[in-house]
Amino acid sequence: MLKSNERVERIISNMTVEEKAAQMQQVSDTCGKNTIPDKGTIGSYLFTKEENKEKYIGLAKETRHGIQPIFGIDAIHGHACLKGATVFPTQLSLACSFDEELTEEVGAVTAREVRADGHHWVFSPVLCMARDLRWGRVGETFGEDTELVSRLGAAIIRGYQRDGLVAACAKHYIGYGEATGGRDAYDTQITERRAREVLLPAFRAAVNAGCMSVMTAYGSIDATPLTTSHRWMTEILKEELGFDGFVVTDWTNVEFLVNGQHVAENLEEATEMAINAGNDMSMQVEGFYDALVSAVRNGRVSEERLDDAVRRILLVKEKLGLIDENICVPERSVIGCEEHKMLNHRAALESQVLLKNDGALPLRGVEKIAVIGPNADDIKAQYGDWTYFTHPENNPDATPKDDSVTVLSGIRESFAGEVIYAKGVNVTPAENDDELILKALDAARNADVVIAVIGDDTSYNGEWKDRANPTVPGRQAELLKRLSELGKKIITVVVSGRALVLSEVKNYSSAIIQSFSSGDLGGKALAELIFGKENFSARLPISIPTDAACAPTYYNQYDYWHTRGGYIDAKKMIDYPFGFGLSYSDFVYSDVTTDKRCVKIGDKFTLSVDVKNDSDRDGTDVLQLYYRDTVCKILRPVRSLIDFKRVSIKAGESVRVDFTVDSIKLGYLDESCKYRVDAGEIKLFVSGDGTSFKEAIINLTE
Ligand code: NOJ
Repeated sequence: MLKSNERVERIISNMTVEEKAAQMQQVSDTCGKNTIPDKGTIGSYLFTKEENKEKYIGLAKETRHGIQPIFGIDAIHGHACLKGATVFPTQLSLACSFDEELTEEVGAVTAREVRADGHHWVFSPVLCMARDLRWGRVGETFGEDTELVSRLGAAIIRGYQRDGLVAACAKHYIGYGEATGGRDAYDTQITERRAREVLLPAFRAAVNAGCMSVMTAYGSIDATPLTTSHRWMTEILKEELGFDGFVVTDWTNVEFLVNGQHVAENLEEATEMAINAGNDMSMQVEGFYDALVSAVRNGRVSEERLDDAVRRILLVKEKLGLIDENICVPERSVIGCEEHKMLNHRAALESQVLLKNDGALPLRGVEKIAVIGPNADDIKAQYGDWTYFTHPENNPDATPKDDSVTVLSGIRESFAGEVIYAKGVNVTPAENDDELILKALDAARNADVVIAVIGDDTSYNGEWKDRANPTVPGRQAELLKRLSELGKKIITVVVSGRALVLSEVKNYSSAIIQSFSSGDLGGKALAELIFGKENFSARLPISIPTDAACAPTYYNQYDYWHTRGGYIDAKKMIDYPFGFGLSYSDFVYSDVTTDKRCVKIGDKFTLSVDVKNDSDRDGTDVLQLYYRDTVCKILRPVRSLIDFKRVSIKAGESVRVDFTVDSIKLGYLDESCKYRVDAGEIKLFVSGDGTSFKEAIINLTE
């Protein structure tokens, strides 16, 4: 039951239907008109222009209730649409850290910068799963695993909302990333089991973290648009999970019901369906307000439903100081300040995954380095989507902010010897590719080693940018081949928005670093890691397949009983699995024990493991604990992540690491999708790289 208060109830009881409907409308300040007669009553704006913020607040203050609009913004990896603000690694990049504490701080810093710039609401985090690499928005996610997505999602929400400065928005509810064929905003083929087991836990974690809003997905489940799903929106999200914030649709979802999904005849019917399903606010649909007022007047939307939606919105506004301005807003000077940069530097360091190293790294004893490749000096590729280059308007020619560091400039800063740079080739094939390749070969001939910085860029990532074949685009693999024919060692850095197939790249590289868009300081961090000033600690939050056609390749699939998980023409499906990542340290595991052999269902137990840093480098390991129910009436994944921990260990030292597991987490959904935990054997696997595992067994008892 939603808990309200006297003040909010008093306001609601004095509001007209028109005032209520207006609170439920969000309009974009960058495009479109709106039909609301009294602009002061509009509930929310998104992408509010600097010059309009005070104006809209002023208009609101002159209205009967003086309720200010809530300004929403896609600050999804820092307040990155504002030039000057801190641009953090994207979610996929940050997820490589497996670091909840860092993720929470990133949220808190973003909130400070967002509020200092006059916005109150971030459309973040994305809790969709990235289980099909073809989908254009893989880079916006925390990867392919439910536990990781849930934990990092809850962490960033705690950070965003910690000081009461902004509301977070868990999106896109639900199954948006499961679109069939990875085709953005399309229907899904997920079953109730998959939705509940794989996707819902992250939203449950968000609700438990107090997330103030949720955004509806564009797509549909089993042909029912999420926007009209009373079951998913009201029964499951609000009633079952107990979500007490408000639901905003995604951009034009309501209109899309008429002209995209063809489930409503006109806007009034679409509005009625969306609001009755449980959406509380509509994003950017001209005519929504009129349609809603009319639907209420015609008795097709009840006043009770209207009140519930407005109550939810006002309770959030009250918390954010939009009813009585009781919030202490940070000074503008916090935007991009030194303290925030320091955190960003740490985030960039923890986000770079070392995939291969035949001894080429750390790079030492060289005098001349050729830095080659289209992403070596392209801050846009390093940023990813949703920055001042891409939103609110596409602005590819914006000049990068002064304090951003590309890989090339990072190497120049860190390396005292000579650096020769050549672009080498374009990401997207262009006429001058042949000429660029020849220049790159010349540069490489004169160098001791090549650092090749390849990948994709924002034209390959984001909404509408699904790919049938997510390989390294254009002639970049050919560039690597030609460079390798010179007999030089090649250290390859893959700067990309999403995971790309690296099968060819692997053949030509002595070392490979996967650098998902890692923000302002990605280049600085990469250089420090390459030269060994810092150590790698990141792990992949998503599996990298051997071939794009092997999709899906997420690690936690069911057992195969015919194919053993391969094809006759692709025996190995995954090159680098979820959880994989190397380091300059070697971590050795031994003595895996549990404090109990038999565990009563409902009790906790502790699994412990000795980890030795068997190297001369201090380092940080990411321990991953997986489990498997060995015999179950319902198919269970080969293993599922249940916990993870970052542990720093000095060179040569050992530590004993404990994982406390609640046996209630070791259950499954039975045939009728009811959660249960059965007695029987559970296998536990500890790993630091997703490829080698130390096992322990416990028995669950009634
Ligand atoms: C559409 C996107 O799907 C969503 O993630 C975003 O928050 C809204 N547009 C607002 O820009």
